[in-house]
Amino acid sequence: MDFPAYRPRRLRRNERLRSMMRETALAPTNFIYPLFVGAGKNSFRPVPSMPGVAQLSVDRAMKEAEEAASLGIPAVILFGIPDRKDAVGTEAYADSGFVQDAVRAIKARVPEILVVTDVCLCEYTDHGHCGVIKNGDVDNDATLELLVKEALSHARAGADIVAPSDMMDGRVGAIRKALDREGFKQVAIMAYAAKYASGFYAPFRDAAESTPQFGDRRSYQMDPANADEALREVELDIREGADIVMVKPAMAYLDIVYRVKLKFGYPVAAYNVSGEYSLIKAAAQNGWIDERRIVMELLLSIRRAGADMILTYFAKDAARELRGK
Ligand code: PBG
Repeated sequence: MDFPAYRPRRLRRNERLRSMMRETALAPTNFIYPLFVGAGKNSFRPVPSMPGVAQLSVDRAMKEAEEAASLGIPAVILFGIPDRKDAVGTEAYADSGFVQDAVRAIKARVPEILVVTDVCLCEYTDHGHCGVIKNGDVDNDATLELLVKEALSHARAGADIVAPSDMMDGRVGAIRKALDREGFKQVAIMAYAAKYASGFYAPFRDAAESTPQFGDRRSYQMDPANADEALREVELDIREGADIVMVKPAMAYLDIVYRVKLKFGYPVAAYNVSGEYSLIKAAAQNGWIDERRIVMELLLSIRRAGADMILTYFAKDAARELRGK
């Protein structure tokens, strides 16, 4: 049917029609809220490059989780900020670490919220890389053992989902095997499957104090030019036992989100990363954009591209908006 018989504007005439025609739904249940957990008591240390985001003590993280749950957000993801770093990231797999403490505290106080833990070494190593260094390079296989220890420690604390973000080869398989062997068959793996070496992580590295002290992450994270490779990465992680596959960052990589969903039909998460958050916050602070409108449009776009879940620092704001308060 052509114009004038067909007039697309007919179905855009008013909000009732538009709401009936809306193809993509955004709901608080789509969100995973990131929290940075560190030392102290009742401590809330704002991250300068991420307005509205702070490093939290365990008790404050628990309160944030409680608030997220009350807004209908089903999950939080925890990142640790240890008070001691070393070459092998010992605090990452210490059962008394801040993440482990926070998992136990949140599960005790807010049992209805799912706790996801980021499994990586970069926040815990003094050199800031996501693995152990041998001969000036990140050693893949030696790192796997430590990631396994970290994931098991999170599982023992009660994590529902572990999320390896290191981009070492074979880590999903190694973690799955260890979880099964130790009786954690029910603990799911959300793999940062297609994680790019991105400039959009800069504010996060402020927040997590995880900037590499030499070199960069290009020898393990993906080249932003590659899309076919992302599909191979995702396929590997699925074969190794990933339950959920993640694409990261989100905004500049929606083509990847789309292709991953189309090709595999697996649960897909997209990480709306720190830089994407801070760009919007900065522009909004300058009065250049309507923050609420842009945030909802962006999150909707990520869903439209095919993501089932969105990890986002905007989770609470967006949930409030969606609930109309
Ligand atoms: C740890 C990790 C990073 C992010 C999540 N997990 C940083 C990095 O790889 O440098 C980034 C999250 C964000 O920017 O919001 N490896």
